[in-house]
Amino acid sequence: MPTRRSFLATTSAAAVSAATHSFGAPKDNGIKLALVGCGGRGTGAANQNLTVSKGIKLVAMADISRDRLEKSLQTLKKQHPDQVDVSAANQFIGFDAYKEAIALADLVLIASPQGFHPYHLAEAVRQGRHVFVEKPLAVDAPGVRRVLAAAEEAKKKNLKVGVGLQRQHQPAYQETIKRLQEGAVGDITSMTCYWLGNARGGLERLPGEGELQYQLRNWYYFTWLSGDFIVDQHIHNLAIINWIKRGHPVRAQGMGGRQVRNDKKLHGQIFDHHFVEYEYADGSKLFSQCRQGQAGTHQQVSEHVVGTKGRADLNVQSRLFRITGPNAWELRLKQGEDGHQLEHYPLIAAIQNNTPFNEIEFAAMSTMTAIMGRMATYSGKLIEWDEAINSKLQLMPEEVSWDMKPPVLPDADGNYPIAVPGRTKPFE
Ligand SMILES: NC(=O)c1ccc[n+]([C@@H]2O[C@H](COP(=O)([O-])OP(=O)(O)OC[C@H]3O[C@@H](n4cnc5c(N)ncnc54)[C@H](O)[C@@H]3O)[C@@H](O)[C@H]2O)c1
Repeated sequence: MPTRRSFLATTSAAAVSAATHSFGAPKDNGIKLALVGCGGRGTGAANQNLTVSKGIKLVAMADISRDRLEKSLQTLKKQHPDQVDVSAANQFIGFDAYKEAIALADLVLIASPQGFHPYHLAEAVRQGRHVFVEKPLAVDAPGVRRVLAAAEEAKKKNLKVGVGLQRQHQPAYQETIKRLQEGAVGDITSMTCYWLGNARGGLERLPGEGELQYQLRNWYYFTWLSGDFIVDQHIHNLAIINWIKRGHPVRAQGMGGRQVRNDKKLHGQIFDHHFVEYEYADGSKLFSQCRQGQAGTHQQVSEHVVGTKGRADLNVQSRLFRITGPNAWELRLKQGEDGHQLEHYPLIAAIQNNTPFNEIEFAAMSTMTAIMGRMATYSGKLIEWDEAINSKLQLMPEEVSWDMKPPVLPDADGNYPIAVPGRTKPFE
């Protein structure tokens, strides 16, 4: 189990490595790349990774859907005709496909749904590969613990691991947070963060589609695959606050539900709003809100902190990063920073220069922060960090195969099980 000290060490290491994207393109000495999970983000991440250096070649791909893999391959071939050479023999389909693709690569991009991330990451590390893995790193505490074990093994094997929390690599956040950590607003006593917006739509079942096939295609709406949207999306905001605070919260309580996005044919089991009050070790509080899919409601994606000497507003939407008080400062961006592109430079530079690079632990703690929030809103209980991270509640099965029964099933009326605060148990 990570100690607070080791978490702090990793946080500052992540911040330092995040600042190294200005290295520029590394020397061209050849990196064989494999892509696991060839959907929207996987295809995007592969494009961005291949953009870093002509020496990177995509040689293998894995997915559970041949259509998705083929579509991704066609897109990437158009974007990088000289860097994409994935023969039919190196296109792997199925739940074990990732193992075969990993075996052919130096660097593996993992962009399957997050329920699979602990397993795919652990296998890549077992096989001694460098990794870029999308956030979040898990959907439950056993998954987070598996990821932390992989982090230890990756360090022993000198593997470089990047995680898709792209704000860590955006200069506007780096510059603002450096100032906050140097005390620009004094001691931070109160924080707020928001992701209030739209989301990917739910998907209806196709004619004749099996239950497991349906849940995997509509994975966002099933907690065993996505962890709920507080874990999938709000992690971005929670990670910013953890970065500022150089640590994770120690307890949480909150409320949530599904009022609008609640069509049994589209919306599986997840909530459409969560409000969580987190407490950090120094007693400071974070008030966190996330909402999706409630048309006509206020939209906002931002983080804010109040300290003994001022306040700071980090507003990616208006591109304004501002500190007010005696150390007033502001940064107005003319255009957005492409964190999805920037995050690949330090990873490739670390591989080429053989310098330490491991973002797992920071991302695992941010993942766990979001999972603790979900435990609080689903159960309506006050949740302590130590209980949460040691929880045995495992949503994601160890093995997934086409002939298994999915971990959740609809009732006779087609309704999936949905958490009810006060009745849902946080840890079982
Ligand atoms: N960093 C970001 O801002 C950001 C943005 C979007 C998505 N993401 C993350 O990227 C990941 C993928 O999201 P997406 O939007 O690309 O979803 P998607 O549905 O477009 O793609 C997921 C792909 O994974 C495949 N897949 C499912 N199970 C698999 C398995 N066991 N092995 C191999 N492939 C499997 C699917 O067939 C599909 O092709 C998620 O973890 C998501 O949270 C991150």
